[in-house]
Amino acid sequence: MAEKSVSTDSLAIEIAKEYKGRKFRVAFVGCGGISHTHAVALAKMPDVEIVAGVDIDKDRLKVFGDRWGVTKLYKDWKTMLKEVRPDGVSVCTPNGVHAAPSIDASNAGCHVIVEKPMAMNPAECEKMIAAAKKAKKKLVIGFQYRYHPNTQFLKRARDNGEFGDIMFVKCQALRRRGIPNWGVFGQKKLQGGGPMIDIGVHIMEMAHYVMGSPKPVAATGNIWTYLGDKPSKVVCPWPHWDYKTYTVEDLAIGHIRFDNGAILQVEASFVAHIEKDVWNFSIMGSKGGAQWDPPMLFADKNDTMVNCAPNFLGSDMSFDALFYAKLRNWIDAATKNVPLDAPGEAGLAIQKMIDGVYRSAAAGKEVIIK
Ligand SMILES: NC(=O)c1ccc[n+]([C@@H]2O[C@H](COP(=O)([O-])OP(=O)(O)OC[C@H]3O[C@@H](n4cnc5c(N)ncnc54)[C@H](O)[C@@H]3O)[C@@H](O)[C@H]2O)c1
Repeated sequence: MAEKSVSTDSLAIEIAKEYKGRKFRVAFVGCGGISHTHAVALAKMPDVEIVAGVDIDKDRLKVFGDRWGVTKLYKDWKTMLKEVRPDGVSVCTPNGVHAAPSIDASNAGCHVIVEKPMAMNPAECEKMIAAAKKAKKKLVIGFQYRYHPNTQFLKRARDNGEFGDIMFVKCQALRRRGIPNWGVFGQKKLQGGGPMIDIGVHIMEMAHYVMGSPKPVAATGNIWTYLGDKPSKVVCPWPHWDYKTYTVEDLAIGHIRFDNGAILQVEASFVAHIEKDVWNFSIMGSKGGAQWDPPMLFADKNDTMVNCAPNFLGSDMSFDALFYAKLRNWIDAATKNVPLDAPGEAGLAIQKMIDGVYRSAAAGKEVIIK
């Protein structure tokens, strides 16, 4: 990312006064798996303090409180917001519980970071954006993969015109056998969908960011459920998922058309019959192409077709490092008014694409994205 740790506009100066001599106070809504990855990052920041946790599961709440030394523990976020009055709220609940706490936190004057996907559908995203705007507070979506050095490598290439016009991008988030066996990831009512909304979202947000965030205008797609809703004896890394409550797709395939004529294809599955897992996207442009993993540019140079791989990308690629970067941007945006790397509008654009694929699958035809 570009160097932008200091902003000198008048708002930044005003905000800096507000936080002078005190820490940015963060509360969590949802204290399950990913909240701890957020907390690991925040605990490394001397200007941040974790002040409260909210969860409907008292065991998870206790584990969170014990691990992070947090004593203000609640089972509902409205009471927490009133009593704790945090500066920022990290929303780490299942997808169906992203919009409500985010909106309430914005209305309570808090900055919000919400995990991916932004919400269940574009209408919820729009309400979240409106609430943050009205409160004049920041709203960040947990898209850590845009900080990945491979993504940044491709973004720099795109910004330098290496690809010419990007015509086609292929996104793949494919697990051979990887239905989450924790949480509610198999329940459509609580998650909004399966692999498309859960893991397809990651690859799509990286690709869309590298493409320069074109406007999606139409979608076609289909989804299939053939394995997750049945008992299985197949030996796999995440066995014993809850097949009885499984109501999401196993495989989703979609095409998104953008206003500049480019097409993004997405393939997302928890249970694809393929050789091994794929986590990648590739780009075809009029002047050059690329792939994310391993990172490589494809071009014609000196009358030769060349494959150009970076010798050294410099940055830490670990999950913890990516989470640190996304949380740091949120804190810096809130306390120093630096630009957001993944604002609500980025979350909304991806949500429109996901929603378009699901709507097209239900309608059996191409659908318009507004
Ligand atoms: N950015 C990433 O790479 C990444 C990775 C994993 C998960 N996630 C996202 O994070 C979110 C949570 O995933 P997870 O793996 O931590 O799930 P999880 O099931 O481990 O944790 C969710 C927690 O939310 C709590 N919760 C549910 N309803 C609640 C409510 N009404 N009020 C308060 N707490 C409530 C649950 O009790 C649970 O402890 C999901 O949206 C998921 O997509 C993002």
